[in-house]
Amino acid sequence: MSYNLDLTDLDRQGGRSVTAQLVERFRAAIDSGALAPGEKLPTTRALAEQASINHLTAVRVYRRLAEQGYVTAAVGRGTFVRSVPPADGERDPVDWQSAVLPELRPSYSNEIFLASYMLPSEPGIVSLATGSPDPAIYPSAALGRIAAEVLAEGGGEPLSYLDPDGLPELREEIAERGRALGFSQTADEILVTSGARQAIDLVCRSVVAPGDVVVCESPTFIGILSSLQFSGARVIGVPVDDEGLDVDALERILARHEVKLVAVQSGCQNPTGRDLSPARAQRLLELARERSFFVLDDGVYATVRFDGRHRPRLRHELPDHVIYVDSLSKTIGGGLRIGWVAASGPVRQRLTWIKLHSDTHTSSLTQHVAHRWLASGEHERLLDATNPGYAHRCDALLASVERHLGDEVRVRRPVGGHHLWLTFRQPIDERALLSEAIRCGVTFLPGNAMLAEPSGTAAMRISFARLAVEELDEGVRRLAKAVRAVRHRASRPGLAALS
Ligand SMILES: Cc1ncc(COP(=O)(O)O)c(C=O)c1O
Repeated sequence: MSYNLDLTDLDRQGGRSVTAQLVERFRAAIDSGALAPGEKLPTTRALAEQASINHLTAVRVYRRLAEQGYVTAAVGRGTFVRSVPPADGERDPVDWQSAVLPELRPSYSNEIFLASYMLPSEPGIVSLATGSPDPAIYPSAALGRIAAEVLAEGGGEPLSYLDPDGLPELREEIAERGRALGFSQTADEILVTSGARQAIDLVCRSVVAPGDVVVCESPTFIGILSSLQFSGARVIGVPVDDEGLDVDALERILARHEVKLVAVQSGCQNPTGRDLSPARAQRLLELARERSFFVLDDGVYATVRFDGRHRPRLRHELPDHVIYVDSLSKTIGGGLRIGWVAASGPVRQRLTWIKLHSDTHTSSLTQHVAHRWLASGEHERLLDATNPGYAHRCDALLASVERHLGDEVRVRRPVGGHHLWLTFRQPIDERALLSEAIRCGVTFLPGNAMLAEPSGTAAMRISFARLAVEELDEGVRRLAKAVRAVRHRASRPGLAALS
């Protein structure tokens, strides 16, 4: 204990009891901050000795302080000053809430993830940050008709509670696609989630304990990074190149750590848009089997392939090790929040429990709508119709990058997805660039937010899914202007201080 109690001058002759005097002294010390929140008080035996009182009186002093809300006792550990002393009147919510809330320090990735939903998208701003498709391609008329039918024919059923695993007919539809693509064999393996985002989070909460070592691609989808970080694990990033995850680098990590989970996107990775090569996929699965770790394979963009030829998912080869997540968000609308996870073995049961404790189940109405939409066969026709359009926008954006930013960045053509991953040839301050870009009327996602560990090189993700070709070009032109402004300021430090 850092606080030295002065108990030499207790009045033992007067009318006030020694208990009341000691309680008052402790209260004054807590109120003045001399005894800090969380500080441990002397044991009752030590207090009895210091104050020359009997043990029962010392016990009574602490009991009174606890009743008045000043201290709290933890069995076997002792008595501690409470995080917030009792208040006489109103208290500033920032003060008391900050004292009682558990610590939460959002990482740079978390901040950018939140900001990515809030980055300016008003008229006049070209948003190259938004990864979601042009809403005009969503089958809103068909979904509207289906929703009306579901409500008219189903009575109250589509508004009733469901099994946490999801609507059986929808799980069957998903499993049918799973049999074709290799991510599942039966509907039992499927749990319907509120988007792939929740699926990722449920997987992390089911598999990862604080202190575990987990691995992810670096760069990766910020949501994967956030869920891994929030699980309290140590997150180690493995670089990705044209063939996806660098499996040699993974092997070096496996030689040093017991890894619990490796998170990948084996098809059309966000943000690079590249696939994990078949040879590397094979090695990753061999390692998962040998070393008993889970592989989380996120296939959200795997159906958005420009050539329309779908590769079998990793789970096909090693279903007990690979947990697959996916959703309808990138094809018929993220606002529907229909996603799923495919898993087997004990982890499958755990996912149901954690889903139940999280939000009971995903919206019944949207599950009914999604089921009828998939059963109609329109979904695959929509993919066939829209994927070539993405390829067209992607090529247009690549041409704009070459035209306006060719000297500044390197870029590779993705095989699918909605994004381009640009790496700067020379370092640049990403935060300064984002602020300047917003001033110039364009937004993007800064690359370091997608890395497991910040790197010296700067990068950015720009997306082509939402905007028309002319808007994409205008966005890159503005981005180039912002880059020039930041470089100009960096070359004249006096100017940077003024900005
Ligand atoms: C790779 C990846 N996985 C998962 C998600 C989340 O998808 P959903 O909207 O279905 O939650 C996204 C969203 O951008 C993503 O890019």
